[in-house]
Amino acid sequence: MELQGKSIVLGVTGGIAAYKAAELVRLLRKQGADVQVAMTEGATHFVTPTTFQALSGKPVFTDQWDARMPNAMAHIDLSRQADCILVAPASADFLARAVQGQADDLLATMVLARDCPLLVAPAMNRQMWENPATRRNVAQLLADGVSILGPDSGEQACGEVGAGRMMEPEEIVESMIAFFAAKVLAGKKVLLTAGPTFEAIDPVRGITNLSSGRMGYALARAARQAGAEVTLVSGPVGFAAPQGVDRINVRSALDMHRAVMAHAGKADIFIAVAAVADYRVANSAEHKLKKDSGGIPPIELIENPDILAEVAALPDGPFCVGFAAESRNLEEYAQTKRRKKKIPLIAGNLIQDGFGGDDNRLVLFDDAGVHPLAPAPKSVLARQLIQHIAHLTGNN
Ligand code: PMT
Repeated sequence: MELQGKSIVLGVTGGIAAYKAAELVRLLRKQGADVQVAMTEGATHFVTPTTFQALSGKPVFTDQWDARMPNAMAHIDLSRQADCILVAPASADFLARAVQGQADDLLATMVLARDCPLLVAPAMNRQMWENPATRRNVAQLLADGVSILGPDSGEQACGEVGAGRMMEPEEIVESMIAFFAAKVLAGKKVLLTAGPTFEAIDPVRGITNLSSGRMGYALARAARQAGAEVTLVSGPVGFAAPQGVDRINVRSALDMHRAVMAHAGKADIFIAVAAVADYRVANSAEHKLKKDSGGIPPIELIENPDILAEVAALPDGPFCVGFAAESRNLEEYAQTKRRKKKIPLIAGNLIQDGFGGDDNRLVLFDDAGVHPLAPAPKSVLARQLIQHIAHLTGNN
């Protein structure tokens, strides 16, 4: 419920992407937002107001002269309680009218009369998007402080391929969450590791672990939403990078070490969430090992570099945060790791059901003491940990 308590006016304009706005209403409400839909006349040719009424649980407004508003001032009353107006899809025509400050229908008048931020998710044919008139309009909207979400590139409803597709509803919701999040790490560079590493035994086999990457990815997303520039060095996992996060894919601990050391000097904060293999195979085979090649093959292990300890030892290095996954003696083991690696903060997780789930239990250990966090989804814990880091680094 990351939009709990937020009141959003959703403007829907005429375009085929209007059908996706129905899903957008559902997703915004799922995150706790209160959604008031206002449609242009054009939008009603694509989706009926009844659809939006059913999904938003509120009457939908399409007309400036709607008799349901006792004072006939729908353009004022509908947006006064709103935290923002989001127009999705925003047609080329709507962008042009918004730039000119026209007030020729309810939505345009509301936008002109608003006292809250405006976000628009453009959707149009690629030629319309590339047209110099639209480019000028977008530049002017940006100059006027309007947030432009997308558009995406890809196959369009008209069959052409290019930029102009509306962002997917899930991505728009992500953008809204980021828009409302407190920017406690604005201007900071955050470097993270996440996921497992894979240490090759031969070209097709290896030593790895069950880290899913969820905790690290949730932290990367929370750091981005807090306004940071985020670089995520990720072991092999099955997720897309969070929106706005720069991801570097790696496989082994040595790859991860190389990527981290290349970026650590520029980072303000380093959060090591990855479950890094302590050892790699010294005698990893160039060709696939054969079962019948004479006995059980010996696997010789050598120690991997300790990435976190090395970053923590950098002169003028970033503020370092470690993780410790323990199945018992959490405080003792986590504090030992914190001291050994010489880091100011470590997040201990008591692993009772293994890695990989959506929820976690974290206990934070720092110079001020022990801070247990209530068990929660990793996304919630990630935001709490980012707040804690912002506090320790003097950013909130
Ligand atoms: O990915 P999920 O399924 O969501 O699970 C998340 C997690 C349980 C993997 C994560 O929350 C976590 O606890 N990661 C650290 C696991 C661990 O116990 O690591 P460690 O004790 O080996 O290392 C301690 C710290 O040093 C960690 O921050 C680790 O990233 C870092 N380290 C360790 C070894 C090494 N060679 N280099 C390192 O940087």
